[in-house]
Amino acid sequence: MADNITRSWYKEMAVYQIWPRSFCDGNGDGIGDLKGVLSKLDYIKSLGVDAIWFSPLYVSPFKDHGYDIADYRNISPDFGTMEDFKAVLDGAHARGLKVIMDLVINHTSDQHKWFLESKKSKDNPYRDYYFWRKGRLGNKLPPNDWKSNFAGDAWEFDETTGEWYLHLFAKEQPDLNMDNPKVRQEVKDIMKYWLDMGVDGFREDVITYISKKEGLPDGFPIPIAAGMEHYNDGPHLHEYLREFRHDVLDNYDCMTVGEAPMMTPEKALKHIAEGPDQELNMMFNFQHMEADCLFVSWVHVPFSLKKLKKVYNNWQTKLYGKAWNANYIENHDQPRIINRYGSLKFREESAKMLAVMYICQSGTPFIYQGQEIGMTNIGLTEIGQYDDVSTRNTYQLFRKLGFSDRKTMELAAYASRDNARTPVQWTAGKNAGFTTADKAWFHINPNYTEVNVEAAEADPDSILNFYRQLLKFRKEHDIVIYGQFIEHDHDNDKLFVYSRHYKDQRMLVVCSFCENKAIFKAPEGFDLNEGKLVLCNYKDVRQSANGAILNPYETRVYLYE
Ligand code: NOJ
Repeated sequence: MADNITRSWYKEMAVYQIWPRSFCDGNGDGIGDLKGVLSKLDYIKSLGVDAIWFSPLYVSPFKDHGYDIADYRNISPDFGTMEDFKAVLDGAHARGLKVIMDLVINHTSDQHKWFLESKKSKDNPYRDYYFWRKGRLGNKLPPNDWKSNFAGDAWEFDETTGEWYLHLFAKEQPDLNMDNPKVRQEVKDIMKYWLDMGVDGFREDVITYISKKEGLPDGFPIPIAAGMEHYNDGPHLHEYLREFRHDVLDNYDCMTVGEAPMMTPEKALKHIAEGPDQELNMMFNFQHMEADCLFVSWVHVPFSLKKLKKVYNNWQTKLYGKAWNANYIENHDQPRIINRYGSLKFREESAKMLAVMYICQSGTPFIYQGQEIGMTNIGLTEIGQYDDVSTRNTYQLFRKLGFSDRKTMELAAYASRDNARTPVQWTAGKNAGFTTADKAWFHINPNYTEVNVEAAEADPDSILNFYRQLLKFRKEHDIVIYGQFIEHDHDNDKLFVYSRHYKDQRMLVVCSFCENKAIFKAPEGFDLNEGKLVLCNYKDVRQSANGAILNPYETRVYLYE
């Protein structure tokens, strides 16, 4: 079955994501940096990954942690110099690790020279690089009703020319006007600049937002991201992505993965289906991150395994043989997965189960820093402790909507992006071994005394060593990479069971999302005693030919060769 999938390096790799400010501080100023990364390249390689994706390293005022770029061609002094970057690039390549840059082209920083110029006058040559409009009601109200993705209006008034500019994120992140061919040329030049330097691809930030509907019409009035129907997957998106591909990307052996909010498999196929019109290699969708919330983690609902399984089944079956999935369960925008889909009580067991659950599916796995040691939410309790602009804005919005400070803080403790942004816990020593400075730039999760890389290295059964085992298994078995996915026992609300099929091999994956013991009945045609148990997060487990009693959050992978 299914042995005709095109092989590609981007399909076979696993990617480690670094959010530089919190990864490792190499110069003792309390901030993670490239020297820190250089010192950890062997560690990254030891995980069994094949590439590093760097969240933005560029010059930035850091209003949104580097997703507000002021200079696309230079490294932020917070993180080091271009020489430091080249040392990391060379060091990564020498170890067989590819390097993927974050490409943020929907918007720039308001400190980018294009925007500073554009502000100066209505006839400035850079004016059309952005969206400037007159407001409504005698210029008292913004030009339309769009709301920022970070809450609040999506428009900011600027005194100099008496017009408003569009910003779909923070007000310090003005949106670029991609309809202007000069802007697209700038983007292509930036891509070439980094590819010529030797980087291996791009993670393209909110790439589905880059084409706005002509006339910027009012949107459906919701408090966050109103207007999205007029700019997400917008009218010229295909055209612009194809232009980037044909004019630049096709000339390099590189990969792309685009961030795509509200994406469905049907729409994704129009962008990522393989063939001459393919625009991106993969897309990051969000649907599987909504099993415990309504669209955004702030609107929290009880976790539903059935919802999660439905989404995975949909993406796995609709893309198979046509396009490629990008699989993740954490990144710098998502709270830690153990708090969401796993269990603090069964931290180790659930972390391992979740790792198997997504890495054994079809697609390229992305692993976020700290995920591999089972880091958890810090759950700060006062708004003043938070750093993230979207958390602070959303806090204000919820207070305006009538939520108490206590309730809002409870939501933030679950949902804030800052949960993913605490420094990586390297040791049980001072500042978790993240920095030699007196203080790290941000709060360190107090559980670092137990949850840290050093302790995990010393324990053969740690989450860290389980990730290594799992990634090695994936690399050594084509079925994990190229096999077809079939879901079983769809209505079971405790277990996620699926199989993979490749040539004459089969693999059975069993994941329990249950805090208690759970009964597992093997799907028809799978004799457990005939399969080889290749991965499991418990020792000495038992089974009969057609089933087993599973421990809390148990996972098992059986291979039939
Ligand atoms: C998505 C990025 O992942 C997020 O961190 C950022 O705030 C927004 N895009 C805006 O660039």
